[in-house]
Amino acid sequence: MSRRRLIIHTPPYFWIFLPFLLVLISLVGAIGDEEKRFYIAYLGDHHPAGNTNSADQMHIHLLTSLKGCYDDAKESLVYSYTKSFNAFAAKLTADEAEKLSRMEEVLSVIPNRYHKLHTTKSWDFIGLPLTARRKLRMESDIIVGLFDTGITPQSESFKDDGFGPPPAKWKGSTCGQFAKFSGCNNKIIGARYFKSDAKPDPADILSPVDVDGHGTHTSSTLAGNLVTNASLFGLANGTARGAVPSARVAMYKVCWASSGCADMDILAAFDAAIHDGVDVISISIGGGSPDYISDSISVGAFHAMQKGILTVASAGNDGILGSVVNDAPWILTVAASGIDREFRSKVHLGNGKNILGLGVSTFNPKQELYPLISGADAARDSASKEDARFCVEDTLDPIKVKDRLVYCKLGTWGTDSVVRGIGGVGTIVETDRFLDAAQIFMAPATMVNGTIGEFIDDYIHSTRSPSAVIYKTHERKKEPAPFVASFSSRGPSPGSQRLLKPDIAAPGVDILAAYTLMKSLTGLKGDTQFSEFSIMSGTSMACPHVAGVAAYVKSFHPNWTPAAIKSAILTTAKPMSRRVNNEAEFAFGSGQVSPTRAVSPGLVYDMDEQTYIQFLCHEGYNASSVATLAGSKSVNCPKLLPGIGYDALNYPTMQLSLKNNQQQTTSVFRRRVTNVGPALAIYNATIKAPKGVQITVKPESLSFSHVLQIRSFKVVVKAKPMSSGQMVSGSLVWKSSRHIVRSPIVIYSPQKISTHIQNQQAKMQ
Ligand SMILES: *[C@@H]1O[C@H](CO)[C@@H](O)[C@H](O)[C@H]1NC(C)=O
Ligand SMILES: *[C@@H]1O[C@H](CO)[C@@H](O)[C@H](O)[C@H]1NC(C)=O
Ligand SMILES: *[C@@H]1O[C@H](CO)[C@@H](O)[C@H](O)[C@H]1NC(C)=O
Ligand SMILES: *[C@@H]1O[C@H](CO)[C@@H](O)[C@H](O)[C@H]1NC(C)=O
Ligand SMILES: *[C@@H]1O[C@H](CO)[C@@H](O)[C@H](O)[C@H]1NC(C)=O
Repeated sequence: MSRRRLIIHTPPYFWIFLPFLLVLISLVGAIGDEEKRFYIAYLGDHHPAGNTNSADQMHIHLLTSLKGCYDDAKESLVYSYTKSFNAFAAKLTADEAEKLSRMEEVLSVIPNRYHKLHTTKSWDFIGLPLTARRKLRMESDIIVGLFDTGITPQSESFKDDGFGPPPAKWKGSTCGQFAKFSGCNNKIIGARYFKSDAKPDPADILSPVDVDGHGTHTSSTLAGNLVTNASLFGLANGTARGAVPSARVAMYKVCWASSGCADMDILAAFDAAIHDGVDVISISIGGGSPDYISDSISVGAFHAMQKGILTVASAGNDGILGSVVNDAPWILTVAASGIDREFRSKVHLGNGKNILGLGVSTFNPKQELYPLISGADAARDSASKEDARFCVEDTLDPIKVKDRLVYCKLGTWGTDSVVRGIGGVGTIVETDRFLDAAQIFMAPATMVNGTIGEFIDDYIHSTRSPSAVIYKTHERKKEPAPFVASFSSRGPSPGSQRLLKPDIAAPGVDILAAYTLMKSLTGLKGDTQFSEFSIMSGTSMACPHVAGVAAYVKSFHPNWTPAAIKSAILTTAKPMSRRVNNEAEFAFGSGQVSPTRAVSPGLVYDMDEQTYIQFLCHEGYNASSVATLAGSKSVNCPKLLPGIGYDALNYPTMQLSLKNNQQQTTSVFRRRVTNVGPALAIYNATIKAPKGVQITVKPESLSFSHVLQIRSFKVVVKAKPMSSGQMVSGSLVWKSSRHIVRSPIVIYSPQKISTHIQNQQAKMQ
């Protein structure tokens, strides 16, 4: 079974230690049923007359004709998706899957894969202060759905004081008591879990309870109550809150401690959430395959879009060009930016020099100085100096390490636990990567860069008894901010060369939010730190910020389509520049999310299901592939095609990919905007074109006389050839006396090689 990146989107070092567990479980899973795998079969024309019973029966019927026997059919079926679309998951041999895919009723059969998972000052930083204008009654009718590791009902962030009963539109069954789960209240109105592979997961609990902390963290960032005096042992103290503190939370637990998150469970969560009546879905989970048809998040989000629900998802933590995931045009894809705060620990060396390390160490030293040794000098007899330099398990001699601080290079995550486990005091970890997010340590520790590392190493070898001390972490202001996190996945989108992804950036570095008491802060062996709030980083943390803004916008405009809400968020984003990040729009999309401006965008670029179908046809998906997404057999591609412009979309951003030839490229983007501002308005266009590119817009002025009036225009982009891999950007801004509607325009020349794809697969995300 191939393992998909459904680890929660926290940055690499958080899950460096996860692969061990994953490998273990995959080995266990491989024993027995070796030739049988889980598959998902998509059937046409969803909602067979809305009768879930008959859909169930149809699934059994299909499997019976495949297997030749009712009992085998019943046994092989693991999930029937009947509420919001028509599909099922079953355990089959490759042969049976192939036969199934040829049956007339079946649109496609796709193997199940496993994804990995990838304060609160952040709201003030992006301009959603406590005092922001709110429509409280509407906000309390908003239901946000999260697909994650579960939730912690005891948390202050989810108490229901002052909440009325769930909104009338909520169709979720009231959630009961589960193991270690005290049940729902009027704040957490839904909590379910999905695990259809029936494999035991001893590190988790079959219940919506969150034993990991990730789901509790994302939920409270999105919709947590105001909690005063929240902090991580005094760090990042202040009032913690979500974007929409009055909204209701529905948790769909699809990610499990050992196995990650399965496609078939993600689809089951979509089926349920769409039926239950959530307004926005937030998914901080790794993407699967780069095509829109075989990825469960893409397929599920399409069905959600059909029902008017926006799906917001994390862009991924691979940090390199072309690694962005969850990049379908009907998904809002979120990159991670940093805020103006950082966590530093002072290190005092025996020679009197002070340096500043990075990371969260909550321990006060008990001595003035501790003896200091380099891991390389503490190697045990059986280990090489080279391995010991990285302080890997079983390479250090406990006698040499005892009561000392150890200087290590970052190899695998958790050297603080290794050193502590054999009697060391703490670690100074040297690395040139991951230095923009604070890692929490289980013992006194801090991270320094290579230059400082060399300085420390020189010091260690310049004296007979080197010594040092690491002080408790303090927080301080960081400049410049915002910046794009180094781990945040970059475009260009692997899904389409005509689509700019990620869409937007939001805070995802060192975010304080609610946590679980069922796991220590690091999850590392020997960690005795537990806290109701913790600091986490990742596009996982950025995603619920934007999902929260979407919910906030929806509380003002309950009837807006998912595309309109997304357009409002994108066109009002605060522009970021190439100075912020050299990879520019490939790193931050349209810029930093700007919550209060998103409520009043002036114009929106709207789209419906037909627009996306047209786009898919234009991208070369055939009718049967498109039918899998649309859930209907009656898709006719060619009829839709003429006169639709370069990207066949009405997207609020534009991206042109140049052919690798010597000629000038001319492309036309066709767009239409809907007036959602004052009835009478005139918008004038301002174009910024990068060097070597000519951009014109026709007409240059749009005048509106009533609300919801639609105006069309076209943007013509003429670009000179560029060298492979180069990317430049400009923008189109529509400006009225009251509104600014901005669309970035990206022009790039695709890299000829596609090494990132290979990297991605080789890497345990
Ligand atoms: C705030 O929290 C800190 C640390 O958790 C605690 O020591 C302090 O007493 C709290 N202050 C108030 C006013 O509750
Ligand atoms: C955080 O704690 C410090 C020290 O206890 C205090 O001076 C400061 O006012 C607190 N900040 C907030 C926002 O509560
Ligand atoms: C290493 O960190 C120090 C102190 O934070 C900083 O001054 C220096 O520029 C950094 N060096 C590199 C190569 O990043
Ligand atoms: C449609 O595309 C899919 C995926 O590329 C392919 O497997 C299938 O054979 C195609 N179907 C037709 C009818 O061309
Ligand atoms: C738009 O352009 C027209 C004509 O040039 C001008 O009169 C008007 O003031 C402009 N409006 C705005 C909002 O800039």
